[in-house]
Amino acid sequence: MCGIVGVLGDHEVAPILVEALRRLEYRGYDSAGLATVNDGKLDRRRAVGKLVNLSDLLVHDPLAGKSGIGHTRWATHGAPTVANAHPHRAGRVAVVHNGIIENFRTLRDELVARGAGFESDTDTETVAHLAQAFLDDGLSPREAAERTLARLDGAFALLFLFEGEDDLMIAARKGSPLAVGHGEGEMYVGSDAIALAPLTHRITYLEEGDRAVITRAGAAFFDEAGQPVTREVRTIEIDATRVEKGGYKHFMAKEIAEQPAVLGDALRHYLGETGQITLPGGGIDFTGVSRLTMVACGTAYLACMTAKYWIEQLAGLPVDVDIASEFRYREPPIPEGTLAVFVSQSGETADTLAALRYCTGRAQRIVSVVNVAESSIARESDLALPILAGAEIGVASTKAFTCQLAVLALVALEAARQRGTLDAATLAAHVQDLRSMPGRLNAAMATEATVAETARRLAEAEDVLFLGRGTMYPLALEGALKLKEISYIHAEGYASGELKHGPIALVDKTVPVIVMAPHDRLFDKTVSNMQEVMARGGKVLLITDAKGAAEAGEGVWQTLVLPEAPELFAPILYALPAQLLAYHTAVAKGTDVDQPRNLAKSVTVE
Ligand code: F6R
Repeated sequence: MCGIVGVLGDHEVAPILVEALRRLEYRGYDSAGLATVNDGKLDRRRAVGKLVNLSDLLVHDPLAGKSGIGHTRWATHGAPTVANAHPHRAGRVAVVHNGIIENFRTLRDELVARGAGFESDTDTETVAHLAQAFLDDGLSPREAAERTLARLDGAFALLFLFEGEDDLMIAARKGSPLAVGHGEGEMYVGSDAIALAPLTHRITYLEEGDRAVITRAGAAFFDEAGQPVTREVRTIEIDATRVEKGGYKHFMAKEIAEQPAVLGDALRHYLGETGQITLPGGGIDFTGVSRLTMVACGTAYLACMTAKYWIEQLAGLPVDVDIASEFRYREPPIPEGTLAVFVSQSGETADTLAALRYCTGRAQRIVSVVNVAESSIARESDLALPILAGAEIGVASTKAFTCQLAVLALVALEAARQRGTLDAATLAAHVQDLRSMPGRLNAAMATEATVAETARRLAEAEDVLFLGRGTMYPLALEGALKLKEISYIHAEGYASGELKHGPIALVDKTVPVIVMAPHDRLFDKTVSNMQEVMARGGKVLLITDAKGAAEAGEGVWQTLVLPEAPELFAPILYALPAQLLAYHTAVAKGTDVDQPRNLAKSVTVE
């Protein structure tokens, strides 16, 4: 959350910065701003709301200069106003920041006592004033940045630009990611490599605590203690087209539709031609593993919840699943033989990273399941399993979820193989079933027009309930999460069997109840719960397969028929109607699908 860019260029930088910010807008879109140095003079432009407002402003009030920094904001301290928008400036210093400066109040009081005048409510403005105070004391920009960084508590990715310095940017990373891009006589900085993809593929990732002193000639890297360090320049292949909408109206629509392809990629990566599961880095040795602790946030947490069913059923290993923000402060005991698994699309989620760090040294092994292979969570794990979903730009997670499920299903099968809880023939059959899922997802895309029709009616609802049993329970939670985050309709997911313990009181004819029920061994139980809803006037949307529809479709408000799926892996398929329903409901309501209000992707603050 919050996106940062910087360019020391050969051309006017404002358009380049805006284009890079466009690729980072998924990280926050409350306001945006640029600062440049032009003939030594520091200047800035800032606008509230989407990046397009900043672009419009720049048309009327251009910003010249070949050196500049930019920011797209997800508000933490202070409302989304121009005064609170980045870059923040004090005297000769401009700063953009992603993260939270925890001790900003103390620093601010100190600076006010020294005569500094603050314009914003943000924590970030403190950083600019502090650096300016050091310049006033006669320090060089580099020394001023260094001394400033030494005073900051909290999490940050920071980028400094100085008046009078056309060829200098200083970047620092502590807790929030930052990448330095190497061009031909140009240098770049970005919150991630995606932002820099059209500019360069040669990237250096800052390590935790690193600072980079950047000029057009290159970057010098220093660790937190100020010691020079060498950091590798990697060539990162990010297909620029994968971060474009490619003819779709929204990234979310594109990412939903990509699922059969990316799921196929992920499965091929781990299964090859032979169908033998091959995990990278020597894989996971389940010898001595007596339990799993799985930790994540949001949709990734719901992927863990689904995997719990698989790992417990297939491999007989007990699994605890936790929300990272709770886990990290609860100080849970980590018994010997615990395998700790962290799931994160971005690999940067602050709570998940903190939970991982809690387990480091306590758990037998740390495994992560990530989409961004270069992320902090991947790098701090003993083993990182990529989900290979490709860049996910829509704020609501879709293809990352199904790819997380696929990789976690493989982990469950691998655990079962090693522990001998499945015979070879059953294991091979499950692998075959898993390999059939991209095709089934593809077939299920044919329901989109029907889902869109249903969604138009769902858009009128104020409250929606989702019900599911077994692995459909986490899917019910995911359906509700997707719907509320992009359509702003209040939605809750419940385990079907839990309905009569309270939530059934909510049921009346205005509340659509979406029942996710493939025709599996729990189908009859779920149908009984569905009947309880219908007996109370509730209108049911039943999402099932042909057998389920034939048996229980009568009398329901609507039925959505999906292709049949192997019982075990049905959650991968049922994710699709949940996503499509949310998407088309949001479209019908006219909300901002890819950038829903108040949200951001890559939640790097706790
Ligand atoms: C929901 C959604 C969020 C994320 C959560 C974790 O659609 O996208 O709930 O799943 O913020 O993010 P990652 O997976 O990046 O750790």
